[in-house]
Amino acid sequence: MKPVEIKKDIYWVGMVNFASHNFHGYAISPRGTTYNCYVVKDEKNVLFDTVQADHSEDMLARLRQVIEPEKIDYIVINHVELDHAGALAEMVEVCKPEKIFCSPMGLKSMASYFDISGWPVQAVKTGEVLNIGKRNIHFVETRMLHWPDSMFSYIPEDKLLISNDAFGQNIASYCRFAHEIDEKEALTNFIEEYYFNIVLPFSSQVLKTLDLVTELKLDIDMIAPDHGVIFKGQKDVGFILNKYREMAEQKPRKKALIFYDTMWRSTETLANYIGCGLDQVGVPYRVMYLKNHHHSQIMTELAKCSAIIPGSPTHNNGIMPLVAGVLTYMKGLRPQNLVGGAFGSYGWSGESTRDLTGWLDAMKVEQPAEPVKCLFRPTKADLEAAENLGRKVGEALIAKCEK
Ligand SMILES: Cc1cc2nc3c(=O)[nH]c(=O)nc-3n(C[C@H](O)[C@H](O)[C@H](O)COP(=O)(O)O)c2cc1C
Ligand SMILES: [Fe+2]
Ligand SMILES: [Fe+2]
Repeated sequence: MKPVEIKKDIYWVGMVNFASHNFHGYAISPRGTTYNCYVVKDEKNVLFDTVQADHSEDMLARLRQVIEPEKIDYIVINHVELDHAGALAEMVEVCKPEKIFCSPMGLKSMASYFDISGWPVQAVKTGEVLNIGKRNIHFVETRMLHWPDSMFSYIPEDKLLISNDAFGQNIASYCRFAHEIDEKEALTNFIEEYYFNIVLPFSSQVLKTLDLVTELKLDIDMIAPDHGVIFKGQKDVGFILNKYREMAEQKPRKKALIFYDTMWRSTETLANYIGCGLDQVGVPYRVMYLKNHHHSQIMTELAKCSAIIPGSPTHNNGIMPLVAGVLTYMKGLRPQNLVGGAFGSYGWSGESTRDLTGWLDAMKVEQPAEPVKCLFRPTKADLEAAENLGRKVGEALIAKCEK
């Protein structure tokens, strides 16, 4: 992959990782990922972010095609997580920068990951401006979007926002820009996948940041995130800003998500009848068997759904581990404004629906019907109860959407 000039004298020198389908050890990224970093050539030459340590050679080779690394004067680290700062020690060694900039919170994490004694590190706060010649770099702290240290770098002369993790997507592609991707719908899915697996808990922070962008009257015609493609031009910039507002607001989405695990398929039968009930009231739905889907795929589907209906047979007086895993993951991501219900088969003690209801309560999910449980194989009455659960959740969802 060659360096790409994204604006005059501003180059992408990142790393496209087609091979890794594992994102940070907790999510899958079936289309690979990208670690973006950028070089601005001016009176002072600036490198924005780096890549994971194991890709530093690759990045350095690309950097050398644009500039001799020794000529880098400043390194800006917008976020000290190892996908962006991993190669920092090596870059400091090779570039010998005059200054390294990060947020005040970044200073703490940088000192924790690296031996920074002797490094020319300087913390910068929101409102601070660094002149590099023809350009000025404005720093904007974006605390908890998605770590305490995260920040944006904005260059008004180029109308360019370097946004770090915000607005990212996990796609490995030869395309550097959103408009080059022919599958527009797929791009939306990748934006949602990234948001619902990483950014969702910080949605109130996203809304504040979007307001701040308006308040500071940042004139932006390019958003360059640290993962995935770059949004170029008013149309694509407007698209991603609106998409972020929409996802952060978590307005009701008229689709239901049924997910379950099963041993002998009784719980699965209930899942399918719940689907029939949803169908009867005109609510689209998706059924996901957890042995076929990773927990991050469940969250990605939640981007399109505001009803969750988890199912599990009772297993050793509780729920099955994959269901517990998804619910643990989902609760941590703090989805809002959901309706739902629980279901499952049991053999003697039958604790699963009680436990599932507990998880729904913990996520403040509105539950318009009693959970559906059946002894071993569902009877006709159990199947009717399952259909009824689907209808009731569907009706509650429609009411939520029409509010
Ligand atoms: C290893 C194992 C442990 C189980 N533990 C319980 C239990 O603690 N309490 C209970 O009510 N049923 C328990 N069951 C019975 C299942 O809940 C029951 O067979 C149920 O119908 C399975 O639903 P499924 O067809 O969706 O897998 C257990 C079954 C197995 C195989
Ligand atoms: Fe990050
Ligand atoms: Fe990242």
